[in-house]
Amino acid sequence: MSTLFSPLTLGPVPLPNRIAVAPMCQYAANDGVMADWHLQHLMTLAMSGAGLVTVEATAVERRGRITPRCCGLYSDDAEAAMARVIAAARAVALPGVKFAVQLAHAGRKASTAPPFEGGKPLTPDQDAWATVSASALPFADGWPPPLALDAAGMARVKDAFVDAARRAARVGFDAIELHMTHGYLLAQFLSPLSNLREDAYGGSLENRMRFPLEVADAVAAVLPASMAWGARITGSEWLEGGITPDEAAALARALKGRGAAFVCVSSGGNSPLSRIPATPGYQVPFAAHVKAHAGEGLAVRAVGLIVAPREAEAILERGEADWIALGRAFLDDPRWGWRAAQTLGQPLALPPRYARAAPTVWPGAAWLRGTV
Ligand SMILES: Cc1cc2nc3c(=O)[nH]c(=O)nc-3n(C[C@H](O)[C@H](O)[C@H](O)COP(=O)(O)O)c2cc1C
Repeated sequence: MSTLFSPLTLGPVPLPNRIAVAPMCQYAANDGVMADWHLQHLMTLAMSGAGLVTVEATAVERRGRITPRCCGLYSDDAEAAMARVIAAARAVALPGVKFAVQLAHAGRKASTAPPFEGGKPLTPDQDAWATVSASALPFADGWPPPLALDAAGMARVKDAFVDAARRAARVGFDAIELHMTHGYLLAQFLSPLSNLREDAYGGSLENRMRFPLEVADAVAAVLPASMAWGARITGSEWLEGGITPDEAAALARALKGRGAAFVCVSSGGNSPLSRIPATPGYQVPFAAHVKAHAGEGLAVRAVGLIVAPREAEAILERGEADWIALGRAFLDDPRWGWRAAQTLGQPLALPPRYARAAPTVWPGAAWLRGTV
């Protein structure tokens, strides 16, 4: 029996296997409102074989969008559009598949163009908007300085997370993932490289964690008992003076103590100076560190250039993580889960309408994969 295809429980939410689709911005929304692109994207991923499909970074307020084309959950229109997409995706999902949304605020990395339009900060004639952060420190040279949030500003952001969480519950999500990495607002508070505050929210790790944990507490307090929540965190910033694996483990423990069911351990994103290796499983050691120091009762997820099903299985077998997320592999092959099931010799119920393409009944399956 493969570990990758064994069930996993996130708090109250049972998952049919240990494969997740990582959140991936599509830059296809309009004022936060999902479009037909999302319908095809998420309906396809719902039958990918992953046990959990995570919806892309979704801004909790308009100014928290990375780009003008990012999803949001800050309006009735956005909530209705997302509800339509998730209902459609559920209707075609393989048995037991669950859905999560990543709630996010881009902070000082907001107000940029989508990557395929250059990814640079918007200019005033492109309707740039003012950004906020832990401190008035721009992301990089040439980027506009953000406004350092004061107490009232932080309270507004926290309320926005709470409102978005309520909307996510109404949409019908099974889980919420709080975006605490990749240099977005909560990561800006966590990192000593972007948080120079001298109040109770800056300095020591305890102080830097304070705002993200307040947000987590506030979100957890409004979620129905049927929903799970967790966070995506930074295992390393790949920079001297940045967040360390030990700090990641401390954050994971603090989140677990507040009721988080899972963490996903990623890295980098808070500075263009980070040099991130593009090697297989480059972030797995951070997940393993977090699991070793915060495991038991917290489902620790590894992500990042995990591509081969046997490698995903081996990571779990070695106890380096409890589950795996894949991003680009699912864009390249939205049936990755089917391939993994075949590789690992696991039965996977295909949608009945596609059953005639099952590798057990269609000899072309082997030819297609070059094994014949
Ligand atoms: C198109 C694209 C969009 C992404 N958007 C997000 C996002 O919304 N939130 C996030 O936390 N990570 C995002 N990521 C990072 C992925 O979730 C993932 O962590 C990363 O791609 C490494 O995993 P992979 O090698 O399996 O792709 C994105 C990656 C890609 C390729």
